[in-house]
Amino acid sequence: MLVDTYGRVATDLRVSLTDRCNLRCSYCMPEEGLQWLTRPELLTDDEIVRLIGLAVTRLGVTEVRFTGGEPLLRPGLTGIVERCAALTPRPRLSLTTNAIGLARTAAALRAAGLDRVNVSLDTLRPEVFQRLTRRDRHHDVLRGLEAARAAGLTPVKINTVLMPGLNEDEAPELLSWAIDGGYELRFIEQMPLDAQHGWRREGMITAADVLRSLRTRFTLTPEGAEARGAAPAERWLVDGGPHRVGVIASVTRPFCAACDRTRLTADGQIRNCLFAREETDLRTALRSGADDEEIAELWRAAMRGKKPGSGLDDPSFLQPDRPMSAIGG
Ligand code: GTP
Ligand code: 5AD
Ligand code: SF4
Repeated sequence: MLVDTYGRVATDLRVSLTDRCNLRCSYCMPEEGLQWLTRPELLTDDEIVRLIGLAVTRLGVTEVRFTGGEPLLRPGLTGIVERCAALTPRPRLSLTTNAIGLARTAAALRAAGLDRVNVSLDTLRPEVFQRLTRRDRHHDVLRGLEAARAAGLTPVKINTVLMPGLNEDEAPELLSWAIDGGYELRFIEQMPLDAQHGWRREGMITAADVLRSLRTRFTLTPEGAEARGAAPAERWLVDGGPHRVGVIASVTRPFCAACDRTRLTADGQIRNCLFAREETDLRTALRSGADDEEIAELWRAAMRGKKPGSGLDDPSFLQPDRPMSAIGG
């Protein structure tokens, strides 16, 4: 098991498959992109599957989520999913993606064993999409979303970050649209994980702002805490149900006390928290011939050192050295 000194058990593994992306969301990375990891730095498909395998068989991981950057850019993704689906016990497998290219790959991913997807979509307006992501790919995202639903990668959840002056007024419109399309919408508070270090608390749209905006058009009733478990999203029933909307309020209502996550970066580092300032290098161990139990022990030690929370409210808070796209949201 992966247990920390506060008694939390990590059963949910997030695996970043690449730090690259085909969008340039302004809350994530600059227009020119970043200094990407090089091929030799990246774990190979075999190395990734080996690490996930030992996490499942020795460390009690039951959920595996593939992230990026943009995980659909990883050529071996379908094969990785297939090999993870063949593990015993079989972990639940999900993907967080911007959905570009998903129209082509959703059916194959489903056939390989992927259970569900979460898709990032911040706006219904193509011109706002272009300003926010600096790419003209809105239509591809919508097609990808439909393909995910049609392939049964459900429930399809949508992640939306509201940004002042861009899409901040779109919350009610997005919610009606998501309900009509059968998607579960979640609004995410912007976190200080952007490569440009441009995040300012005063400039952030909070969970309270989102709820106020939604309540201009909908009645929201909180879902019981027991339904939430360790999920980062708090959920509300919309107009009495059955549809729901979620808010992931990492900044104003942190859920660190219930955190059940451990992270593997595309270059083989374990992070015990999104906001951790240290990483544990499994790649060197892997490549110098360590056996599964030795690697498992390094992973357990990494998780024992997990801090109680993100530290976002500490006056001495420092953003992690790597941005979200390299950590794997
Ligand atoms: P579900 O299993 O579908 O609930 O997935 P999820 O919401 O955990 O995953 P997703 O990749 O869709 O992430 C949604 C948002 O939650 C992203 O902005 C993540 O960065 C954020 N998130 C995920 N895990 C953590 C975490 O451990 N801490 C914080 N603060 N945010 C997280
Ligand atoms: N703060 C909050 N959410 C972010 N995402 C990317 N960067 C940030 C940030 N700085 C979102 C993406 C994606 C999810 C994995 O995280 O929009 O949906
Ligand atoms: Fe790409 Fe996701 Fe970052 Fe947007 S938030 S640039 S989709 S990695």
